[in-house]
Amino acid sequence: MTDEIVVIPGDGIGQEVIPAAREVLAAVGDFEFIEAPAGDHVLESEGEALPQETFDLAASADATLFGAAGETAADVVIPLRRAVDSFVNVRPAKAYPGVDALRPETDLVFLRENTEGVYGGHEHRLTNDLSTLTRVITNSASRRLARFACDYVEEGEWDGFTVAHKANVMRETDGRFKSAVESVAEKRGVATDDALMDALAMHLCLHPEEYGVVVCPNLAGDMLSDLAAGLVGGLGLLPSANLGPERGLFEPVHGSAPDIAGQGVANPSATVLSAAMLLDSLGYEDESEAVHAAVEAVLADGPRTPDLGGDASTDEVTDAIVSRLD
Ligand code: NAI
Ligand code: MG
Repeated sequence: MTDEIVVIPGDGIGQEVIPAAREVLAAVGDFEFIEAPAGDHVLESEGEALPQETFDLAASADATLFGAAGETAADVVIPLRRAVDSFVNVRPAKAYPGVDALRPETDLVFLRENTEGVYGGHEHRLTNDLSTLTRVITNSASRRLARFACDYVEEGEWDGFTVAHKANVMRETDGRFKSAVESVAEKRGVATDDALMDALAMHLCLHPEEYGVVVCPNLAGDMLSDLAAGLVGGLGLLPSANLGPERGLFEPVHGSAPDIAGQGVANPSATVLSAAMLLDSLGYEDESEAVHAAVEAVLADGPRTPDLGGDASTDEVTDAIVSRLD
């Protein structure tokens, strides 16, 4: 049966990088693409940033590939992650040969808790002077993430993982996160170390080679993975997979990049690598590897988009990737 892939370009450069990734997917497999609207422009025309039909499509498709939304990102991405019941956001940050990276030795994977923390939307304006946010951490979500992390490091033959937290200050919530994750790892015989997330940010800048897989609460995973993007050459290179038990939502880490949108110069690599993660999740391991290899070859030999110091367009880079797949 043909796999059904929902594609949601969204706003800004989402409209440029999603067609690129779609072209790459079409070059390696026979997929049925269903395009669905979401984002700022949909809020303007339809009164809601994420139409129910788009949510329903993501909730039932084999996989969804999303570009980026602009100011409505929180109203689009967070519900879409919920639509696929995703409990983990996998964010690899790797320096590639040929790319001028701040830290060429970087090879990290952030496993970010994807359902709770401070992104649960529990915010309240109590008075004109006072607003609050409730941070939610459960044993069940932390343990589920830890089980995934154990599988991930075993399959990828990593030495173990680092638990990022701030349990010295957020004693109750991050204390719970840390102990829940560590107890699962201990039972599974997976080695862990832990790091205070603020100090970890500094250590990752200075010595990224000392780290591999980093398991994070929601906000920490968001921030540390962007930091890692800076180490490897920019947001144009970072893919991600939001995985649920039955399906996933795949998206670049970057946003709609209004500063370059419409110019045809967005780096498609992050989205194409997200498509490679999508292929892997659907069981197309060889195709996924081929796409990875094609992106790596083009990053090494060019052409390159301006964010990587080149002067090629999105289309030229995409054509170069596709021609490596022939
Ligand atoms: P951004 O990721 O859109 O851009 C940050 C910087 O990185 C910009 O200078 C941009 O040109 C550059 N950049 C990002 N992706 C690139 C690519 N593929 N090729 C070349 N350069 C690239 O983040 P920013 O500027 O903070 O946010 C812009 C908008 O995107 C905001 O409205 C924000 O809400 C939204 N956003 C949406 C996200 C999502 O839909 N998942 C995630 C992050 C931001
Ligand atoms: Mg982010």
